[in-house]
Amino acid sequence: MFDTVIRGGTVVTAADTIRCDVGIAGGVVTALGRDLGAAREVIDAGGRLVMPGGIDSHVHLSQPSGEGIVMADDFASGTRSAAAGGVTTVMAFCMQESGKSLRAAVQDYHAKAEGRCHVDVSFHLVISDPTEQVLGQELPALVADGYTSFKVFMTYDGLALNDMQILQTMAVARETGALVMVHAENYDAIRFLTTQLEKQGRTAPFYHGASRPIAVEREATHRAISLAELVDVPIVVVHVSNREAMEEIRRAQSRGLNILGETCTQYLVLTEDDMQGLNMEGAKYVCSPPPRDRASQEACWEGLQTGVFTLFSSDHCPFRYDEQGKLAPKGRTSFRWVPNGIPGVAARLPILFSEGVGKGRIDLNAFVALTATNHARTYGLYPRKGTIAVGSDADIAIWDPERRVTIDNASQQHGADYTPYEGFEVTGWPVLTMVRGKVVMREGEVSASAPEGIYLSRGHSAHARPGGSGRKAR
Ligand code: URP
Ligand code: ZN
Ligand code: ZN
Repeated sequence: MFDTVIRGGTVVTAADTIRCDVGIAGGVVTALGRDLGAAREVIDAGGRLVMPGGIDSHVHLSQPSGEGIVMADDFASGTRSAAAGGVTTVMAFCMQESGKSLRAAVQDYHAKAEGRCHVDVSFHLVISDPTEQVLGQELPALVADGYTSFKVFMTYDGLALNDMQILQTMAVARETGALVMVHAENYDAIRFLTTQLEKQGRTAPFYHGASRPIAVEREATHRAISLAELVDVPIVVVHVSNREAMEEIRRAQSRGLNILGETCTQYLVLTEDDMQGLNMEGAKYVCSPPPRDRASQEACWEGLQTGVFTLFSSDHCPFRYDEQGKLAPKGRTSFRWVPNGIPGVAARLPILFSEGVGKGRIDLNAFVALTATNHARTYGLYPRKGTIAVGSDADIAIWDPERRVTIDNASQQHGADYTPYEGFEVTGWPVLTMVRGKVVMREGEVSASAPEGIYLSRGHSAHARPGGSGRKAR
Protein backbone atom coordinates (compact mmCIF):
# COMPACT_ATOMS: atom_id res chain seq x y z
CA MET A 1 0.00 0.00 0.00
CA PHE A 2 1.35 3.41 -0.97
CA ASP A 3 0.98 6.44 1.26
CA THR A 4 0.23 8.50 -1.83
CA VAL A 5 -0.21 7.97 -5.53
CA ILE A 6 -0.05 10.94 -7.92
CA ARG A 7 -2.26 9.74 -10.72
CA GLY A 8 -2.73 10.72 -14.36
CA GLY A 9 -0.03 13.34 -14.73
CA THR A 10 2.91 13.78 -17.07
CA VAL A 11 6.14 13.17 -15.18
CA VAL A 12 9.03 15.33 -16.33
CA THR A 13 12.65 14.83 -15.35
CA ALA A 14 15.84 16.28 -16.79
CA ALA A 15 15.94 13.29 -19.15
CA ASP A 16 12.37 12.15 -19.84
CA THR A 17 8.76 13.18 -20.23
CA ILE A 18 6.46 10.22 -19.47
CA ARG A 19 2.76 9.71 -18.78
CA CYS A 20 2.80 7.70 -15.57
CA ASP A 21 1.73 7.61 -11.94
CA VAL A 22 4.06 8.16 -9.00
CA GLY A 23 3.84 5.87 -5.97
CA ILE A 24 5.16 7.23 -2.70
CA ALA A 25 5.80 5.46 0.60
CA GLY A 26 7.83 6.60 3.60
CA GLY A 27 8.60 9.94 1.97
CA VAL A 28 10.34 8.46 -1.05
CA VAL A 29 9.28 7.51 -4.55
CA THR A 30 8.80 3.75 -4.59
CA ALA A 31 7.16 3.16 -7.96
CA LEU A 32 6.66 4.79 -11.35
CA GLY A 33 4.16 3.21 -13.69
CA ARG A 34 0.56 2.87 -14.79
CA ASP A 35 -2.27 1.54 -12.63
CA LEU A 36 -0.27 1.49 -9.41
CA GLY A 37 -1.96 -0.25 -6.48
CA ALA A 38 -3.92 1.11 -3.53
CA ALA A 39 -2.93 4.26 -1.69
CA ARG A 40 -4.10 6.09 1.40
CA GLU A 41 -4.27 9.29 -0.66
CA VAL A 42 -4.67 9.72 -4.39
CA ILE A 43 -3.76 13.06 -5.95
CA ASP A 44 -5.32 13.63 -9.33
CA ALA A 45 -2.77 15.17 -11.67
CA GLY A 46 -4.78 14.82 -14.89
CA GLY A 47 -3.72 17.53 -17.34
CA ARG A 48 -0.87 18.56 -15.06
CA LEU A 49 2.91 18.29 -15.10
CA VAL A 50 4.56 16.39 -12.28
CA MET A 51 8.09 17.71 -11.87
CA PRO A 52 10.86 17.54 -9.28
CA GLY A 53 10.38 20.30 -6.73
CA GLY A 54 12.65 23.21 -7.47
CA ILE A 55 16.00 23.45 -5.77
CA ASP A 56 17.10 27.04 -5.28
CA SER A 57 20.81 26.90 -4.52
CA HIS A 58 21.16 30.65 -4.02
CA VAL A 59 19.01 32.26 -1.33
CA HIS A 60 19.78 34.56 1.58
CA LEU A 61 17.71 34.19 4.75
CA SER A 62 18.16 35.68 8.23
CA GLN A 63 21.47 37.13 7.20
CA PRO A 64 23.14 39.93 9.19
CA SER A 65 22.77 42.94 6.89
CA GLY A 66 24.16 46.05 8.59
CA GLU A 67 23.08 48.42 11.29
CA GLY A 68 19.33 48.91 11.50
CA ILE A 69 18.70 46.70 8.48
CA VAL A 70 16.70 43.51 8.95
CA MET A 71 16.47 40.92 6.21
CA ALA A 72 12.80 40.55 5.32
CA ASP A 73 12.80 36.76 5.44
CA ASP A 74 13.78 34.40 8.18
CA PHE A 75 13.72 30.66 7.63
CA ALA A 76 9.98 30.47 8.31
CA SER A 77 8.85 33.10 5.82
CA GLY A 78 11.58 32.40 3.26
CA THR A 79 10.77 28.70 3.08
CA ARG A 80 7.03 29.46 3.05
CA SER A 81 7.65 31.56 -0.03
CA ALA A 82 9.72 28.74 -1.51
CA ALA A 83 6.88 26.26 -0.98
CA ALA A 84 4.43 28.70 -2.58
CA GLY A 85 6.68 28.82 -5.65
CA GLY A 86 7.09 25.07 -6.14
CA VAL A 87 10.50 24.89 -4.46
CA THR A 88 11.30 21.98 -2.14
CA THR A 89 14.93 22.66 -1.17
CA VAL A 90 16.71 25.97 -0.58
CA MET A 91 20.40 26.47 0.00
CA ALA A 92 21.10 29.52 2.11
CA PHE A 93 24.32 31.31 2.98
CA CYS A 94 25.79 30.94 6.45
CA MET A 95 27.96 34.01 6.77
CA GLN A 96 31.10 34.14 8.84
CA GLU A 97 31.34 37.56 10.44
CA SER A 98 34.76 39.11 10.40
CA GLY A 99 36.81 38.19 13.45
CA LYS A 100 34.45 35.37 14.40
CA SER A 101 34.68 31.63 14.11
CA LEU A 102 33.07 29.85 11.21
CA ARG A 103 31.90 26.98 13.39
CA ALA A 104 30.07 29.46 15.66
CA ALA A 105 28.38 30.99 12.62
CA VAL A 106 27.20 27.52 11.57
CA GLN A 107 25.78 26.81 15.01
CA ASP A 108 23.97 30.18 15.08
CA TYR A 109 22.53 29.60 11.64
CA HIS A 110 21.27 26.13 12.55
CA ALA A 111 19.54 27.65 15.57
CA LYS A 112 17.78 30.12 13.28
CA ALA A 113 16.59 27.38 10.94
CA GLU A 114 15.75 24.57 13.36
CA GLY A 115 12.06 23.68 13.40
CA ARG A 116 11.07 26.65 11.22
CA CYS A 117 11.46 25.40 7.66
CA HIS A 118 8.56 24.51 5.37
CA VAL A 119 10.95 22.95 2.84
CA ASP A 120 14.32 21.24 3.20
CA VAL A 121 17.40 23.42 3.61
CA SER A 122 21.14 23.24 3.36
CA PHE A 123 23.87 25.83 3.94
CA HIS A 124 26.75 27.19 1.91
CA LEU A 125 29.45 28.85 3.99
CA VAL A 126 30.59 32.42 3.32
CA ILE A 127 34.29 32.90 4.05
CA SER A 128 34.86 36.52 5.02
CA ASP A 129 37.88 36.15 7.29
CA PRO A 130 40.15 33.34 6.07
CA THR A 131 42.51 33.15 9.02
CA GLU A 132 44.94 30.29 9.51
CA GLN A 133 42.55 28.80 12.05
CA VAL A 134 39.62 29.00 9.62
CA LEU A 135 41.50 27.63 6.61
CA GLY A 136 43.60 25.12 8.46
CA GLN A 137 41.11 23.69 10.92
CA GLU A 138 37.53 24.87 10.78
CA LEU A 139 36.90 24.75 7.06
CA PRO A 140 38.31 21.25 6.41
CA ALA A 141 36.34 19.93 9.39
CA LEU A 142 33.14 21.58 8.16
CA VAL A 143 33.59 20.20 4.64
CA ALA A 144 34.01 16.74 6.17
CA ASP A 145 30.77 17.37 8.05
CA GLY A 146 28.84 17.96 4.82
CA TYR A 147 29.20 21.74 4.26
CA THR A 148 30.74 21.09 0.87
CA SER A 149 30.46 24.50 -0.78
CA PHE A 150 31.48 28.01 0.14
CA LYS A 151 31.19 31.46 -1.34
CA VAL A 152 33.88 34.08 -1.62
CA PHE A 153 33.18 37.71 -2.42
CA MET A 154 35.45 39.88 -4.55
CA THR A 155 33.56 42.98 -3.43
CA TYR A 156 31.54 44.46 -0.50
CA ASP A 157 32.98 46.08 2.61
CA GLY A 158 33.67 43.48 5.25
CA LEU A 159 33.34 40.60 2.81
CA ALA A 160 35.76 41.19 -0.08
CA LEU A 161 38.76 38.89 -0.13
CA ASN A 162 41.96 39.89 -1.90
CA ASP A 163 43.53 37.63 -4.52
CA MET A 164 45.89 36.02 -2.02
CA GLN A 165 43.00 35.17 0.28
CA ILE A 166 40.96 33.81 -2.61
CA LEU A 167 43.86 31.62 -3.72
CA GLN A 168 44.32 30.33 -0.18
CA THR A 169 40.61 29.58 0.15
CA MET A 170 40.56 27.85 -3.24
CA ALA A 171 43.53 25.74 -2.14
CA VAL A 172 41.47 24.44 0.79
CA ALA A 173 38.65 23.63 -1.60
CA ARG A 174 41.10 21.69 -3.74
CA GLU A 175 42.37 19.71 -0.77
CA THR A 176 38.93 18.92 0.58
CA GLY A 177 36.96 18.55 -2.64
CA ALA A 178 34.67 21.45 -1.85
CA LEU A 179 33.14 23.75 -4.45
CA VAL A 180 33.84 27.51 -4.41
CA MET A 181 31.15 29.96 -5.48
CA VAL A 182 32.48 33.35 -6.54
CA HIS A 183 30.81 36.75 -6.45
CA ALA A 184 32.78 38.36 -9.25
CA GLU A 185 32.89 42.16 -9.19
CA ASN A 186 35.97 44.38 -8.85
CA TYR A 187 35.82 46.00 -5.39
CA ASP A 188 38.26 48.88 -5.98
CA ALA A 189 36.66 49.78 -9.31
CA ILE A 190 33.24 49.96 -7.64
CA ARG A 191 34.60 52.14 -4.83
CA PHE A 192 36.30 54.44 -7.33
CA LEU A 193 33.21 54.80 -9.51
CA THR A 194 30.91 55.25 -6.50
CA THR A 195 33.01 58.15 -5.23
CA GLN A 196 33.04 59.75 -8.68
CA LEU A 197 29.27 59.44 -9.05
CA GLU A 198 28.70 60.94 -5.61
CA LYS A 199 30.94 63.91 -6.48
CA GLN A 200 28.75 64.48 -9.54
CA GLY A 201 25.62 64.39 -7.37
CA ARG A 202 24.51 61.14 -8.98
CA THR A 203 23.35 59.45 -5.82
CA ALA A 204 19.85 58.12 -6.62
CA PRO A 205 19.45 54.32 -6.62
CA PHE A 206 19.41 54.45 -10.44
CA TYR A 207 23.17 55.13 -10.34
CA HIS A 208 23.89 51.90 -8.50
CA GLY A 209 24.18 50.28 -11.94
CA ALA A 210 26.64 52.92 -13.14
CA SER A 211 28.85 52.16 -10.14
CA ARG A 212 29.27 48.55 -11.24
CA PRO A 213 29.20 48.44 -15.07
CA ILE A 214 29.84 45.35 -17.15
CA ALA A 215 33.63 45.83 -17.19
CA VAL A 216 33.65 45.52 -13.39
CA GLU A 217 32.00 42.11 -13.61
CA ARG A 218 33.93 40.94 -16.68
CA GLU A 219 37.32 41.75 -15.13
CA ALA A 220 36.52 39.97 -11.88
CA THR A 221 35.07 36.98 -13.71
CA HIS A 222 38.24 36.69 -15.77
CA ARG A 223 40.38 37.00 -12.62
CA ALA A 224 38.33 34.46 -10.66
CA ILE A 225 38.69 31.96 -13.51
CA SER A 226 42.44 32.61 -13.72
CA LEU A 227 42.86 32.08 -9.98
CA ALA A 228 40.86 28.85 -10.16
CA GLU A 229 43.01 27.70 -13.08
CA LEU A 230 46.18 28.40 -11.10
CA VAL A 231 44.93 26.37 -8.14
CA ASP A 232 43.34 23.71 -10.38
CA VAL A 233 39.94 23.81 -8.76
CA PRO A 234 36.38 24.05 -10.11
CA ILE A 235 34.34 27.16 -9.29
CA VAL A 236 30.83 28.43 -9.83
CA VAL A 237 30.61 32.02 -11.03
CA VAL A 238 27.30 33.05 -9.50
CA HIS A 239 24.68 35.58 -10.62
CA VAL A 240 26.12 36.34 -14.06
CA SER A 241 24.34 39.29 -15.65
CA ASN A 242 25.71 39.93 -19.12
CA ARG A 243 27.38 38.69 -22.30
CA GLU A 244 30.97 39.65 -21.52
CA ALA A 245 31.05 37.73 -18.25
CA MET A 246 29.19 34.85 -19.90
CA GLU A 247 31.76 34.75 -22.71
CA GLU A 248 34.60 34.61 -20.16
CA ILE A 249 33.01 31.48 -18.73
CA ARG A 250 32.33 30.01 -22.15
CA ARG A 251 35.95 30.55 -23.17
CA ALA A 252 37.20 28.91 -19.98
CA GLN A 253 34.91 25.94 -20.54
CA SER A 254 36.07 25.58 -24.12
CA ARG A 255 39.67 25.52 -22.82
CA GLY A 256 38.69 22.51 -20.75
CA LEU A 257 38.42 24.28 -17.42
CA ASN A 258 35.83 23.14 -14.92
CA ILE A 259 34.09 26.48 -14.54
CA LEU A 260 30.35 26.54 -13.86
CA GLY A 261 27.98 29.45 -14.40
CA GLU A 262 24.77 30.57 -12.75
CA THR A 263 22.30 33.22 -13.82
CA CYS A 264 19.16 34.43 -12.09
CA THR A 265 15.62 35.56 -12.79
CA GLN A 266 16.39 39.27 -12.62
CA TYR A 267 18.90 39.03 -15.47
CA LEU A 268 16.28 37.53 -17.77
CA VAL A 269 13.38 39.89 -17.19
CA LEU A 270 14.53 43.11 -15.49
CA THR A 271 16.67 45.90 -16.96
CA GLU A 272 18.11 49.17 -15.67
CA ASP A 273 15.11 50.87 -17.31
CA ASP A 274 12.89 49.52 -14.53
CA MET A 275 14.52 52.11 -12.25
CA GLN A 276 14.16 55.09 -14.60
CA GLY A 277 12.39 58.03 -12.99
CA LEU A 278 11.73 56.18 -9.75
CA ASN A 279 14.02 58.19 -7.49
CA MET A 280 14.23 56.43 -4.09
CA GLU A 281 11.79 53.73 -5.15
CA GLY A 282 14.48 52.55 -7.53
CA ALA A 283 15.98 51.02 -4.37
CA LYS A 284 13.48 48.20 -4.83
CA TYR A 285 15.59 46.98 -7.76
CA VAL A 286 19.05 47.44 -6.26
CA CYS A 287 20.98 44.20 -6.45
CA SER A 288 24.45 43.21 -7.53
CA PRO A 289 25.38 42.67 -10.25
CA PRO A 290 22.63 45.01 -11.49
CA PRO A 291 20.12 44.01 -14.18
CA ARG A 292 21.42 45.60 -17.38
CA ASP A 293 19.84 45.86 -20.83
CA ARG A 294 17.99 43.78 -23.43
CA ALA A 295 21.20 42.55 -25.05
CA SER A 296 22.38 41.30 -21.67
CA GLN A 297 19.09 39.48 -21.18
CA GLU A 298 19.53 37.78 -24.54
CA ALA A 299 23.07 36.76 -23.57
CA CYS A 300 21.81 35.20 -20.35
CA TRP A 301 19.20 33.24 -22.29
CA GLU A 302 21.92 32.11 -24.66
CA GLY A 303 24.02 31.01 -21.68
CA LEU A 304 21.14 28.88 -20.45
CA GLN A 305 20.37 27.46 -23.87
CA THR A 306 23.95 26.52 -24.72
CA GLY A 307 24.94 25.03 -21.38
CA VAL A 308 27.36 27.78 -20.33
CA PHE A 309 25.02 28.29 -17.39
CA THR A 310 23.81 25.08 -15.79
CA LEU A 311 22.26 26.73 -12.75
CA PHE A 312 19.27 29.05 -12.66
CA SER A 313 18.68 30.53 -9.20
CA SER A 314 16.80 33.40 -7.61
CA ASP A 315 19.50 35.06 -5.47
CA HIS A 316 16.54 35.73 -3.17
CA CYS A 317 17.92 38.43 -0.87
CA PRO A 318 14.82 40.16 0.48
CA PHE A 319 14.57 43.56 2.15
CA ARG A 320 11.45 45.52 2.86
CA TYR A 321 11.20 48.92 1.20
CA ASP A 322 10.44 50.57 4.55
CA GLU A 323 12.68 51.86 7.32
CA GLN A 324 13.88 48.39 8.30
CA GLY A 325 15.04 47.65 4.79
CA LYS A 326 15.96 49.56 1.65
CA LEU A 327 15.37 52.93 3.33
CA ALA A 328 16.95 51.95 6.65
CA PRO A 329 20.24 53.85 6.39
CA LYS A 330 18.61 57.11 7.53
CA GLY A 331 20.17 60.38 6.42
CA ARG A 332 22.41 58.48 4.03
CA THR A 333 20.96 59.37 0.70
CA SER A 334 23.46 57.77 -1.68
CA PHE A 335 22.76 54.46 -3.42
CA ARG A 336 25.98 53.37 -1.67
CA TRP A 337 23.98 52.65 1.47
CA VAL A 338 21.01 50.84 -0.04
CA PRO A 339 21.13 47.17 0.97
CA ASN A 340 21.77 45.03 -2.11
CA GLY A 341 19.33 42.29 -3.00
CA ILE A 342 15.79 41.58 -4.14
CA PRO A 343 13.24 38.89 -3.30
CA GLY A 344 12.42 36.19 -5.85
CA VAL A 345 12.40 32.63 -4.51
CA ALA A 346 8.70 32.20 -5.39
CA ALA A 347 8.88 33.96 -8.75
CA ARG A 348 11.86 32.05 -10.18
CA LEU A 349 10.11 28.92 -11.43
CA PRO A 350 6.95 30.50 -12.92
CA ILE A 351 9.01 33.13 -14.74
CA LEU A 352 11.45 30.60 -16.23
CA PHE A 353 8.59 28.28 -17.11
CA SER A 354 6.57 30.99 -18.81
CA GLU A 355 9.38 32.90 -20.52
CA GLY A 356 11.47 29.81 -21.20
CA VAL A 357 9.25 26.80 -21.87
CA GLY A 358 6.16 28.80 -22.81
CA LYS A 359 8.03 30.92 -25.35
CA GLY A 360 10.00 28.01 -26.82
CA ARG A 361 13.41 29.08 -25.55
CA ILE A 362 14.02 25.90 -23.55
CA ASP A 363 12.20 22.58 -23.32
CA LEU A 364 10.61 21.03 -20.26
CA ASN A 365 13.57 18.75 -19.55
CA ALA A 366 15.98 21.68 -19.64
CA PHE A 367 13.64 23.52 -17.26
CA VAL A 368 13.93 20.67 -14.76
CA ALA A 369 17.69 20.43 -15.21
CA LEU A 370 18.21 24.17 -14.72
CA THR A 371 15.93 24.48 -11.71
CA ALA A 372 16.44 21.21 -9.84
CA THR A 373 18.65 18.40 -11.17
CA ASN A 374 21.78 20.44 -11.87
CA HIS A 375 21.58 22.07 -8.44
CA ALA A 376 21.43 18.66 -6.80
CA ARG A 377 24.36 17.35 -8.83
CA THR A 378 26.44 20.48 -8.37
CA TYR A 379 25.96 20.68 -4.62
CA GLY A 380 26.10 17.03 -3.60
CA LEU A 381 22.41 16.20 -3.18
CA TYR A 382 21.85 13.94 -6.19
CA PRO A 383 20.10 11.50 -6.58
CA ARG A 384 18.34 11.96 -3.26
CA LYS A 385 17.11 15.33 -4.55
CA GLY A 386 16.56 16.86 -7.96
CA THR A 387 14.76 14.08 -9.80
CA ILE A 388 11.76 11.81 -9.70
CA ALA A 389 13.12 8.27 -9.55
CA VAL A 390 12.59 5.19 -7.44
CA GLY A 391 14.51 5.77 -4.22
CA SER A 392 14.60 9.57 -4.47
CA ASP A 393 12.89 11.79 -1.92
CA ALA A 394 9.31 12.51 -3.00
CA ASP A 395 10.01 16.23 -3.55
CA ILE A 396 7.51 17.11 -6.21
CA ALA A 397 5.79 20.13 -7.69
CA ILE A 398 2.59 19.66 -9.66
CA TRP A 399 2.08 22.33 -12.28
CA ASP A 400 -0.92 23.61 -14.17
CA PRO A 401 0.82 24.53 -17.42
CA GLU A 402 -2.12 26.61 -18.64
CA ARG A 403 -2.78 28.72 -15.58
CA ARG A 404 -2.35 32.43 -16.20
CA VAL A 405 -1.26 34.48 -13.23
CA THR A 406 -0.28 38.09 -12.82
CA ILE A 407 2.44 38.13 -10.18
CA ASP A 408 1.72 40.36 -7.21
CA ASN A 409 3.24 40.67 -3.78
CA ALA A 410 0.60 38.53 -2.07
CA SER A 411 1.31 35.59 -4.37
CA GLN A 412 4.94 35.56 -3.24
CA GLN A 413 4.14 34.91 0.44
CA HIS A 414 7.52 36.31 1.49
CA GLY A 415 8.37 38.83 4.17
CA ALA A 416 9.14 41.68 1.81
CA ASP A 417 6.55 44.39 1.20
CA TYR A 418 7.02 44.36 -2.57
CA THR A 419 8.10 42.17 -5.45
CA PRO A 420 10.23 43.50 -8.30
CA TYR A 421 8.09 41.28 -10.55
CA GLU A 422 4.79 43.03 -9.69
CA GLY A 423 2.45 42.88 -12.69
CA PHE A 424 4.53 40.30 -14.58
CA GLU A 425 2.20 37.93 -16.42
CA VAL A 426 3.03 34.24 -16.52
CA THR A 427 1.41 31.15 -17.97
CA GLY A 428 2.08 28.04 -15.89
CA TRP A 429 1.94 27.86 -12.11
CA PRO A 430 2.79 25.34 -9.38
CA VAL A 431 -0.47 24.21 -7.76
CA LEU A 432 0.92 21.67 -5.30
CA THR A 433 4.29 21.30 -3.57
CA MET A 434 5.27 18.10 -1.78
CA VAL A 435 8.35 17.64 0.39
CA ARG A 436 9.38 14.05 1.21
CA GLY A 437 5.82 12.89 0.50
CA LYS A 438 4.04 15.57 2.57
CA VAL A 439 1.95 18.21 0.82
CA VAL A 440 3.24 21.60 1.99
CA MET A 441 1.36 23.79 -0.49
CA ARG A 442 -1.95 23.22 -2.27
CA GLU A 443 -3.49 25.89 -4.50
CA GLY A 444 -1.40 28.61 -2.90
CA GLU A 445 -2.18 27.59 0.69
CA VAL A 446 0.99 26.74 2.53
CA SER A 447 0.32 24.13 5.20
CA ALA A 448 -0.38 25.64 8.60
CA SER A 449 0.86 22.61 10.50
CA ALA A 450 4.28 22.65 12.19
CA PRO A 451 7.04 23.03 9.59
CA GLU A 452 8.81 19.73 8.90
CA GLY A 453 11.67 20.80 6.66
CA ILE A 454 14.99 19.24 7.60
CA TYR A 455 18.63 20.20 7.27
CA LEU A 456 20.50 18.37 4.50
CA SER A 457 24.11 17.43 4.99
CA ARG A 458 25.71 17.12 1.55
CA GLY A 459 28.23 15.00 -0.27
CA HIS A 460 30.81 16.26 -2.76
CA SER A 461 29.77 18.08 -5.87
CA ALA A 462 29.66 16.02 -9.04
CA HIS A 463 32.20 18.57 -10.33
CA ALA A 464 34.70 18.51 -7.48
CA ARG A 465 36.87 15.94 -5.79
CA PRO A 466 39.69 16.15 -3.26
CA GLY A 467 43.02 16.80 -4.95
CA GLY A 468 41.79 19.12 -7.67
CA SER A 469 39.63 18.82 -10.71
CA GLY A 470 39.87 22.23 -12.27
CA ARG A 471 39.88 20.55 -15.65
CA LYS A 472 36.84 18.82 -17.02
CA ALA A 473 37.07 15.06 -17.18
CA ARG A 474 37.62 13.99 -20.78
O1 URP B 1 22.50 42.06 -4.53
C1 URP B 1 22.65 40.92 -4.19
N1 URP B 1 22.85 39.98 -5.07
N2 URP B 1 22.62 40.61 -2.91
C2 URP B 1 22.80 39.35 -2.39
C3 URP B 1 24.19 39.09 -2.01
C4 URP B 1 24.92 38.45 -3.13
O2 URP B 1 25.90 39.01 -3.56
O3 URP B 1 24.56 37.38 -3.56
ZN1 ZN C 1 26.90 37.54 -4.60
ZN1 ZN D 1 23.30 36.14 -3.42
